[in-house]
Amino acid sequence: MKFCLDTASVSEIREAAALGLLDGVTTNPSLVAKEKKDFRKLLAEICEVCDGPVSAEVVDTTCDGMVKEGRDLAKVAENIVVKIPLIKEGIKACKILRSEGIKTNVTLCFSPNQALLAAKAGASYISPFIGRLDDVSTEGMQLIRDIRTIYDNYSFPTEILVASIRHPMHVVEAAKIGADVATMPFKVFDQMLAHPLTDIGLKKFLDDWKATQGK
Ligand code: E4P
Repeated sequence: MKFCLDTASVSEIREAAALGLLDGVTTNPSLVAKEKKDFRKLLAEICEVCDGPVSAEVVDTTCDGMVKEGRDLAKVAENIVVKIPLIKEGIKACKILRSEGIKTNVTLCFSPNQALLAAKAGASYISPFIGRLDDVSTEGMQLIRDIRTIYDNYSFPTEILVASIRHPMHVVEAAKIGADVATMPFKVFDQMLAHPLTDIGLKKFLDDWKATQGK
């Protein structure tokens, strides 16, 4: 399973990259807005820290506008993936960008049919938002199961990028289903590593060692 950080914060990306386990970054307009920086400059900075796929979202909602923005974003760095909303115009734009060799991440996916259409349009990644489904009393993880089955049935190469992850168990469940990528906030990345028994165990080992060998 590949891990992406769902953030536009360069310092968070740097810290996660230092672990050597970061495969990519996903951003969205809300995350970028928090950073209060020029979008293209920020993207270039992110792409310098992370050489894996970096998703950058278009904000136009017409096919022509999304294609124009997508072409422009793709020029920022080789590893840019153009993020497109799952609407009719987005599906059209996805096909066009794909025919030009530009990678796409089709976002705001909330149903198996939407995921099927995105795969048929040649999306490189599909982003199902599981946390936001959980928020409205719908099991987000069921969507991941459904998409996995559908994509496997027809050998679609589109990668399932599980988005809107809220806690470490989301990652465990998505990995058990065989999702290709998990994108998560920095906090969840940290939580995946932490275990109180590891800390207690290490303290005991080091105390025992110091009590004898350390003398
Ligand atoms: C996906 O690419 C989105 O940026 C993100 O995962 C949305 O997460 P949220 O529902 O926590 O805002």
